[in-house]
Amino acid sequence: MRIVLMGPPGAGKGTQAKRLAEQFKMEHLSSGDIFRAEKASGSALGEELARYMSAGQLVPDDTVVRVMAKAVRESSAPGGLLLDGFPRTVAQAEALNAQLAEAGTPLDAIAVIRVDDGLIVERITGRRVAPSSGKVYHVKYLPPKRDMVDDETGEALVQRDDDKEEVVRERLATYHKQTAPVIGFYRDLGELPVVEVNGNGAPDDVTTMLVDALGRLQS
Ligand code: AP5
Repeated sequence: MRIVLMGPPGAGKGTQAKRLAEQFKMEHLSSGDIFRAEKASGSALGEELARYMSAGQLVPDDTVVRVMAKAVRESSAPGGLLLDGFPRTVAQAEALNAQLAEAGTPLDAIAVIRVDDGLIVERITGRRVAPSSGKVYHVKYLPPKRDMVDDETGEALVQRDDDKEEVVRERLATYHKQTAPVIGFYRDLGELPVVEVNGNGAPDDVTTMLVDALGRLQS
C-alpha cells in the first residue's frame, strides 16, 4: 500500500505512522524527520531548511520535492510506503502524483487525522523526543517510564525547537492555509479513497481506527 497520512501539527501523525508502519510492514517517510536529520548534519541544505522550520513556515516546494522525490525513489519496504508530512501543498501533491504515475506505483489512499485546534498547543508543547531514535513522548499523554529519559536508551529527552507556543500557532495557521486544501485536491481528483479518523481521543483508540481503515483497504 502507498498511503499519505495527513493532519495538523500535533495530530499524532508521527506517533501513528510508527505504529502503522510496523503493523503493515511499510516504510515510514516523515519529511519533518528527514529535514531535521539534514539540519543536524550541519549541511548548507540543513541550514536553509532550519530557517523555515524554526519560523513555523513551509520549506519552498522545489526544495521539498527534490529531497522527498529521492526518498520516495529509494524506499523499498515490502508493505509499501507511508508518507507523513508530505505532500503539504497542492504543488507538492501534483509533483508526487506525477512521480508515482511515471513509476507505475500510484497512491492507494489518503488518511486524515482530524484534531480540534484547541488540543494542538497542549499536545505540541508537551511533546518530548528521544534525540537518537526520534521516539515521541508526551509529558502527560504518553510519558516515558522514567522521568524524562528514553525508555530504551536512557538518554535525556529533548524538546523540538519549533515546539514553542508562538511557533506552534504559526504552524497551525500555515496548515489551515496551505495544507488543508490538499485534502480537497485529492477529493476532487476522485481517484482514491480519502479516509478520515477522529484524532481527538487516546492514542490507542486512534491507532485502532486507522488499522481498521487501512486493513479494509487491503482486503
Ligand atoms: P513536521 O515534523 O512534519 O511537523 P508537523 O506536521 O507540524 O507535525 P508534528 O511532528 O508537530 O506532529 P505530529 O502530527 O507528527 O504529532 P506527534 O505524533 O508528534 O514538520 C516540521 C516542519 O518541517 C514544518 O513546520 C515545515 O517547516 C517543515 N516541513 C516538513 N514537511 C514539509 C513539507 N512537505 N513542505 C514544506 N515544509 C515542510 O504528536 C504530538 C504530541 O502529541 C506528542 O507529544 C505525542 O506524544 C502526543 N500525542 C499524539 N497522539 C496523541 C493523542 N491521541 N492524544 C494525546 N496526545 C497525543
